[in-house]
Amino acid sequence: MMSQGLVTMSYIGASILFILSLGGLSNQETARRGNYYGMVGMVIAILATALSAAVTENYAVLVVALLVGGFIGSQAALRVQMTQMPELVAAMHSLVGMAAVLVGYANFLGESGLTGVEKTIHEVEIYLGILIGAVTFSGSVIAFGKLCEKISGKPMLIPGRHYLNLILLFSAIAFGYVFLNGVDVDERLMALGLMTLVALLFGVHMVMAIGGADMPVVVSMLNSYSGWAAAATGFMLNNDLLIVTGALVGSSGAILSYIMCRAMNRHFLSVIAGGFGSAGGTAAEVVGEVQPIDVTETVQLLRDAKNIMIIPGYGMAVAQAQHTVNEITKLLKSKGKTVRFGIHPVAGRMPGHMNVLLAEAKVPYDIVFEMEEINEEFGDVDVTIVIGANDIVNPSALNDPNSPIAGMPVLECWKGETTIVMKRSMASGYAGVGNPLFVMDNTRMLFGDANAKLQEVLKELQA
Ligand code: TAP
Repeated sequence: MMSQGLVTMSYIGASILFILSLGGLSNQETARRGNYYGMVGMVIAILATALSAAVTENYAVLVVALLVGGFIGSQAALRVQMTQMPELVAAMHSLVGMAAVLVGYANFLGESGLTGVEKTIHEVEIYLGILIGAVTFSGSVIAFGKLCEKISGKPMLIPGRHYLNLILLFSAIAFGYVFLNGVDVDERLMALGLMTLVALLFGVHMVMAIGGADMPVVVSMLNSYSGWAAAATGFMLNNDLLIVTGALVGSSGAILSYIMCRAMNRHFLSVIAGGFGSAGGTAAEVVGEVQPIDVTETVQLLRDAKNIMIIPGYGMAVAQAQHTVNEITKLLKSKGKTVRFGIHPVAGRMPGHMNVLLAEAKVPYDIVFEMEEINEEFGDVDVTIVIGANDIVNPSALNDPNSPIAGMPVLECWKGETTIVMKRSMASGYAGVGNPLFVMDNTRMLFGDANAKLQEVLKELQA
């Protein structure tokens, strides 16, 4: 058993490691180190908690739970494909939410020994913990369904949805009043149960009302909620480390949500209220002739080009084409061409998805640019290769106010001389909208699996 002093010291050490971890994760070059800090911090946190005075008996249950949890977690992490990562994260968030709800009920039903103001504060913690936890749980389950496309990405916009949200909010407040002032345990438990139902309903409704293109904000918002749920659990359990860790996750998730909203040109509150940008009329149909291109013509265009831009999207992740992309990049650079990458903040299915893939393939960081840095440069680009990207290069975001992605900044590749779009068909992207880029005069479509086609391109370039 550890002394309280040693536990506190360990908690401070773990908190510092978590902060260093977040700092490391903010930069690709230090991200690996950041992950190690986080892992060491978590081991210290678990050991210190398990060996603290808070655990007095039932060690067998604890060990079994740790083994089962560790096994399930490691199996999930080992098996998950890179493209399924957002779903895994959503599933993990739902567990944090569920834990907060369960801890809340256990705390309410257990003996706290508190009286007066302290008791009231503790009960407010329980109420808020269960509220945030339940919203996080049901919201994350729906987000999971949407991300793995088991639930339609289309926003479910029920009439009077904003009123429904208001009713849910006021009933949560009313149940809170009953919970704090109820005369007996049954009445208070009933209020707590009804509030849990309301919170679960709110989580479902909030995420169901969000259209495909706005999902990035929801993913980061649920990330933030899971942090606040953990912090609330920390208050309930009187565990300082959980409060600090929860606050770190909660606030970094909130900052990420803000960055995502800015990237998508959305108002945070409108996204939370649901269905922003999708209540307008019908999006314009895409009409025009597609001009296909083959590998030989693509290679010729690349040979003639001086200034080349590559825009990767979700399809590059599906095809796992990043290594071939890196080989082609090296070859083109060795021939004296300028090759740069343009990264949209919501490309792929999770924040930083493309950066992770390019880093894995060892593409040098100094040729990878954010959308804001590169969008002005397309006028000088001879050839842009769009690899499995769709929504992030859709001009209708800028010129069709009825489009579900209206207002979202996109990579304006059509301003370059020629754009080659690599995809397998004319299917739409995550947001489910047609893309007029594909029928523009200076666009050529190279149909097929991105990796297979790029390998052919590489072979011909090497010849
Ligand atoms: P998308 O718009 O989803 O388009 C990806 C394209 O890749 C599809 O049109 C698909 O067309 C093509 N593709 C799929 N597999 C391929 C393969 N093996 N080879 C070649 N092409 C393939 O992707 P994006 O442009 O990256 O935009 C991201 C979208 O996801 C945005 O709407 C964004 O809001 C949303 N989203 C993002 C996030 C985050 S945080 N990044 C989270 C959730 C949702 P074919 O089927 O015709 O091949």
